[in-house]
Amino acid sequence: MVANWKMNGDLQSIERLICDLKRDFLDKDLESERVIILPPHVYLQIVAKDIGSTSILIGAQDTDERESGSVTGGVSAKMLRDVGCEYVLLGHSERRNLFDEGDGAIFQKLTQALKVGLKAIVCIGESLEQRNSGQVLEVISNQLEPIINQETLPQLEELLIAYEPVWAIGSNKSATIQQIGYALSKIRKILRDVDINLSESTKILYGGSVTEKNIAEILAIDEVDGALIGGASLDSKIFSKICRIAKTI
Ligand code: PGA
Repeated sequence: MVANWKMNGDLQSIERLICDLKRDFLDKDLESERVIILPPHVYLQIVAKDIGSTSILIGAQDTDERESGSVTGGVSAKMLRDVGCEYVLLGHSERRNLFDEGDGAIFQKLTQALKVGLKAIVCIGESLEQRNSGQVLEVISNQLEPIINQETLPQLEELLIAYEPVWAIGSNKSATIQQIGYALSKIRKILRDVDINLSESTKILYGGSVTEKNIAEILAIDEVDGALIGGASLDSKIFSKICRIAKTI
């Protein structure tokens, strides 16, 4: 389960969220679940410290595509590693749309992340217009293919891919079981066609209006290995409940 907190919260609310999550994890014996939290950059170090010795892992919501230097406001992959990140989210549709990030920049970010040993969670998914014009498969392939090549392949043993249809994000309207099943089977096929080992080691997540109410049926879909959760991850009770349900599936 990956919690994408986006640009939400403040120091006080984030410390409270961590404290509640830690308690729930210990009380409900969730330590065996792989849970990754993606706080805003400025709180990464505090969260890493507060999370202490629990099994919860930390990741960043983005990284810069350059290694270091004159990049005002930039945060490099090495800096993320320095403050305790193990993961980095790349290519979220909000980054693609609000910051005009294209596949080229996403590939550069992936390269920087892999260089310092960060594991990548790469988001892909179609807009509503693209879905309505029958382009789901084309969009998925176009977003996936540029990041998998001979250069990155040897380092992609622990890749996470999140299929997030843009129209399902924050809309209270998750994709249907059939839509998720179709997209994920296509993603798996693309991976298999590139490299069988890559296909076996890659975990595929679904994201887009995941809640405690639909997580069970989503995780029951064959190809789904986990979920990327935005809004519902900001409430510790709901997020812990999602993790508890996931543990039983
Ligand atoms: P949501 O966000 O769960 O609020 O739909 C998911 C995401 O954007 O990663």
